[in-house]
Amino acid sequence: MLRFASSSVRRRGFASSSFWKYVEEGPLDANKATTVALKADPNPNKVNLGEGIYKDDTGKCPVLPCIREAEARLAKANADHEYCPISGIPSFCKSASQFAFGADSSLFKENRIATVQTLSGTGALRIGADFVAKFLPKATPVFISDPTWVNHRALFQTAGCEVRTYKWYDKAKNALDIDGCLKDLRNAPLRSVILLHACAHNPTGIDPTMEQWKKISDACLERNHIVFFDNAYQGFASGDPDKDAAGFRHFINQGHQLIVAQSFAKNMGMYGERVGALNIMTGSEQETTAVDSQLKIIIRANYSSPPLFGARLVDMVLSEPALKKQWFVDVKEMADRIALMRSSLVQNLGKAGSKLDWSHITNQIGMFAFSGLGEKQVMKLRSDFSVYMNKDGRMSIAGINSRNVEYLAKAIHEVTRS
Ligand SMILES: Cc1ncc(COP(=O)(O)O)c(C=O)c1O
Repeated sequence: MLRFASSSVRRRGFASSSFWKYVEEGPLDANKATTVALKADPNPNKVNLGEGIYKDDTGKCPVLPCIREAEARLAKANADHEYCPISGIPSFCKSASQFAFGADSSLFKENRIATVQTLSGTGALRIGADFVAKFLPKATPVFISDPTWVNHRALFQTAGCEVRTYKWYDKAKNALDIDGCLKDLRNAPLRSVILLHACAHNPTGIDPTMEQWKKISDACLERNHIVFFDNAYQGFASGDPDKDAAGFRHFINQGHQLIVAQSFAKNMGMYGERVGALNIMTGSEQETTAVDSQLKIIIRANYSSPPLFGARLVDMVLSEPALKKQWFVDVKEMADRIALMRSSLVQNLGKAGSKLDWSHITNQIGMFAFSGLGEKQVMKLRSDFSVYMNKDGRMSIAGINSRNVEYLAKAIHEVTRS
């Protein structure tokens, strides 16, 4: 039972007992804990493979040229700072959703997508989770992959959903456990919510092939599951936004009614500006109006309306042909550098003398590689070499560059040689 200081004591300004005396300190987010440990390490050769932020070969998080140009244009436009509508900038919502679904999708003519601007991908997931919790039957479970991005479980649980898992990673083969995944999807209760990563699966870097996507889609259709795509890396995975969207667009062609969360943090380098969108496919124009109105009610009670600045820039890049062309060059450059660092790491492991099979590093895609290193090896890398990655062996390839790759490879070889 909580006991508070009497109101007369508090009014006089010397409360004998704080309201928050009983609040215990919570654990640090697993990813953030790695960053804290890294910051405290004085070794000048330390390597940061923990953070999910793109870095160029100089170790800096760049502002993309397309965004720099959009900023210059926005500055000239003398834009105001009025409130943004609850569901965001209408033209941003349109361009974001066309980017995800493909501008020529018949869904736009039929007005069958409700889209709202959100606080990046996390905000899109949370508004989507609130919507699912509010409008699906109470007992509907939400299935997330095992493993998945560290925040997925908390986002859906905090919204009030029951969270379960389906298999994704085959540790022995360092590959997708497609049979285990399909089995779990088929054993899930009818009309469960299935959260899938659209591309660049975090943390494993293992995306299904098109054949495997087809099987996953079929299994979900058989069970009438509601498929929720987390599309946080479109364009960043392969360098080609349409290729990265091919998996979830197949689901649309097969008749799924998807929920799609989008982020422009990684593919446009807009991390801190919090630019994202939530799209809910509906059965009719009338349903779109209803869903849209309910999303506004959820948003209004959370943060009233989203910020303008980043969404204005992203909207400009997506809708102005010259800027969009530049962006495609920019995003490909990031994807290519990541791919180059994957092969450079594997090459350097060979040069360092490692006889182990590291081909999964180059087979995986996106910002992260699931190295296969165990917690003991990860901690040894930390203590002996100042190399920081998550305890599950996930390393951010973005933290590798031409100056540290040889050092990193030697360190990994030292902790993995028998
Ligand atoms: C799979 C996945 N989903 C969503 C997010 C959310 O990103 P943000 O909220 O920065 O857009 C991330 C970020 O790392 C992610 O990896």
